[in-house]
Amino acid sequence: MAEINKKNLEELKKIKQEILEGKNCPLYEYRIENGFYPVIGQGNHQAKIMFIGEAPGLNEAKTGYPFCGRAGKILDELLDFVDIKRKEIYITNILKDRPPGNRNPSREEIEDYTPYLERQIKVIKPKVICTLGNYSTAYIMEKYGLKDEIQGISKIRGKIFETGDTFQNIRIIPLYHPAVVAYNPNMMGALKKDFEILTGLKFS
Ligand code: URA
Repeated sequence: MAEINKKNLEELKKIKQEILEGKNCPLYEYRIENGFYPVIGQGNHQAKIMFIGEAPGLNEAKTGYPFCGRAGKILDELLDFVDIKRKEIYITNILKDRPPGNRNPSREEIEDYTPYLERQIKVIKPKVICTLGNYSTAYIMEKYGLKDEIQGISKIRGKIFETGDTFQNIRIIPLYHPAVVAYNPNMMGALKKDFEILTGLKFS
């Protein structure tokens, strides 16, 4: 795989620096007051598959790494099941900071943080975006012109949605958020079945 070009690397550094400085980060003060880290993203800068979660949890905010806590262990098991390595993919979230008490992201927070996500997508240019849970699914489907197809995650998970982005040829695959398994271990089978769709992907 070719090296990431200098301009793209600069842009990723710029994104990191701006988030570290708290530019347009509504949860910056909360981050600093609690000694947390922002969670910018992790993985391959030229990944074909990008995973987008909701927001960092406590473990993530304490370390700065996405999906390193309980939901992360479940995600690792699912990736393992379909033989995908974390170093092959890129993982990030809609929000780059942990919301207090793990509450849901607000509309304003989504509005303020997603320009960072959009810049990350522009640099990494994934062929497939796997959205984990309702928030990232709704955001990404709307962004890619699939607003009319948005339904609750239980209705659309595990399906491939072709976007109108013929230039990048992006496909979107909504998936349950791995945290559902932490609440209901019986769901693991359903998530594994949905993840299997990733094994049949072909990249042009
Ligand atoms: N849940 C998420 O949505 N993202 C993380 O990084 C961790 C837990």
